[in-house]
Amino acid sequence: MTFAAIIVAAGSGTRIGAGPAKQWRLLAGKPVLQWSVDALERAGAAAGVVVIPPDGEAQARQILGDRPGWTLATGGATRALSVQAGLRALTVSPQTPVLVHDAARPLVNGRHVGDLLKALEQADAALPALAVADTLRRVAEGRTVTVPRDGLWRAQTPQAARRGRLEAAYANWSGPGEPTDDAAVVEADGGTIALTPGDPALMKLTYPEDFEMAELLAGRTMTTRIGQGFDAHRWGPGEAVWLCGVRIDHDQTLVGHSDADAGLHALTDALLGAIGEGDIGDHFPPTDPQWKGAPSNLFLKHAADMVAARGGRVLNIDLTLICERPKIKPHRAAMRERLASLLGLTLPQISVKATTTEGMGFTGRQEGLAAQAVVLVEVPA
Ligand code: CTP
Ligand code: MG
Repeated sequence: MTFAAIIVAAGSGTRIGAGPAKQWRLLAGKPVLQWSVDALERAGAAAGVVVIPPDGEAQARQILGDRPGWTLATGGATRALSVQAGLRALTVSPQTPVLVHDAARPLVNGRHVGDLLKALEQADAALPALAVADTLRRVAEGRTVTVPRDGLWRAQTPQAARRGRLEAAYANWSGPGEPTDDAAVVEADGGTIALTPGDPALMKLTYPEDFEMAELLAGRTMTTRIGQGFDAHRWGPGEAVWLCGVRIDHDQTLVGHSDADAGLHALTDALLGAIGEGDIGDHFPPTDPQWKGAPSNLFLKHAADMVAARGGRVLNIDLTLICERPKIKPHRAAMRERLASLLGLTLPQISVKATTTEGMGFTGRQEGLAAQAVVLVEVPA
């Protein structure tokens, strides 16, 4: 079923303590807000609105990138006002299910979404909820009393309702006070509510110590995979050679169908290998004229996009060029910079090394150059 997403990220995160608001902080290397955007996009959101504070546009744009169908809206002073700003910015039909989600709950996944959309077939709103396990106590006016926990559930997000139903319910809300979630608003408007299985991983980041728990849970949702690649090209007449996306003046060139950048080819194969997607020849057949003379950064970008499309990311790469000449060391910094910019990584994540084979073998006889690469990627488990 198609659905739209509203991610509310317009809060100021006062309880999380000093520093940036929680939606911009990193969780397992990725901004908190981006976890939800990536997950809801991957779960099939046809459109999305991210509701942000007035000063959050630059950071939010960087997180959204050029995803089609996603837009930004400026939030209000309360969560309820932010949700309504999101609804106004959403252009889907009144019948379309809308999932309203707290950016502060980064570990949402496709199962949560599937459960909610199914539950919405039978109810006006649906939300994940967890039964309260601890005994509850109320502390008031210097006294403390046990509160029976029977029948008490903890409400989480995303919360689902059809767009028209949710909009009408918010318009009809007359208090008391401000609603703190969306199901409460539909309920007050006479709607029926369904519960789906809650998940400890849907915890909300509220206090500083919550980040530690979320880091552990985020680690559990990802798995690491290794990939390796090898490539070799023959030397031929020429005046420059491409290696790791850098052009180096040289008295020979490498011969190949594309630009023969063996470094980028080995790296592309390593990325494809890490996600079990065949090799570079499967994706860019050398028989296809459109790849004649092609810059190999296209191949690398394609493989990196495939990793990203699975919700994965590259953790580090280690690449070795094997040749007698040219000397690689003077170009190593430029190569690392180039790879960092092509892959959106930092320099410490990238290693470029070089070795000769002491005159032995095809590289030693200077018939050709070889490259080998190892990558580690992290993908959803
Ligand atoms: N939210 C919002 N607009 C507001 C208030 C909250 O969009 N005016 C969003 C938050 O960004 C968060 C979610 O609603 O994703 C749940 O709110 P909460 O956990 O209370 O976040 P904050 O309001 O940012 O934190 P705090 O209450 O500690 O200041
Ligand atoms: Mg708040």
